[in-house]
Amino acid sequence: MTARRPLIAGNWKMNGLRADGLALAGELAKRMKAKGKAPFEMLVCPPATLIREVAQTVAGSGVLVGGEDCHAKASGAHTGDISAAMLADAGCTHVIVGHSERRTDHGESDATVKAKAAAALGNGLVAVVCIGETEAERDAGKTLEVNARQVAGSVPDGATAANLVIAYEPVWAIGTGRTPTAPEVQEVHAFIRKELAAKIGAAEAAGVRILYGGSMKPGNAKELLALADVDGGLIGGASLVADDFWAIAQSCP
Ligand code: PGA
Repeated sequence: MTARRPLIAGNWKMNGLRADGLALAGELAKRMKAKGKAPFEMLVCPPATLIREVAQTVAGSGVLVGGEDCHAKASGAHTGDISAAMLADAGCTHVIVGHSERRTDHGESDATVKAKAAAALGNGLVAVVCIGETEAERDAGKTLEVNARQVAGSVPDGATAANLVIAYEPVWAIGTGRTPTAPEVQEVHAFIRKELAAKIGAAEAAGVRILYGGSMKPGNAKELLALADVDGGLIGGASLVADDFWAIAQSCP
């Protein structure tokens, strides 16, 4: 099996004023430095207002910084939006695209997400492409069908094991304290990798990190991260507390 280094990614969402955000970033940087060579990669995705200072705070620690979204276009008349080039310029190496909150709050389609991911790749960023079914879709037995459609529609051309990360986030598990069972998570992750193989080739798909997201906590991280096709986590609520986020990272096999 291809060795995939786990990625522990924090999605801060619309949380954090300067003092809190920089304190959190500083604490994580300190722990990463003290740890030396970690068996995992750590990524934090702060609100856009904090990216530059967070990047300065974690510089040299190994903690990576990502955006929470980007626009598909390089520049222009798009008030309030931020381009992938701007994120890279501010110190990002990664960007989350297609989070279910973006898909819902901003009506983003698979085509929009694909265009954003393509922009990320074009600017040297790793695209963390989020997919996942709603509760109604799971109840209707459509989980695999929905995730297959989102992989097919959201993953851009030119995606490789080096520039693409997938985050499987069942919408009903985000911020709810509920998660699928471990066998259910593994089933979907293995299925996603199979769908990816059809799209980008088996060799690349074998190296793509597929993160689980949705109520990952210190208490369930070990079981989830031990699954064969789970290569890390995209963590919301628990990523805002240094001890919790760190404990999740320490749960990597
Ligand atoms: P959560 O969020 O960990 O708070 O459930 C995960 C996410 O939305 O990325």
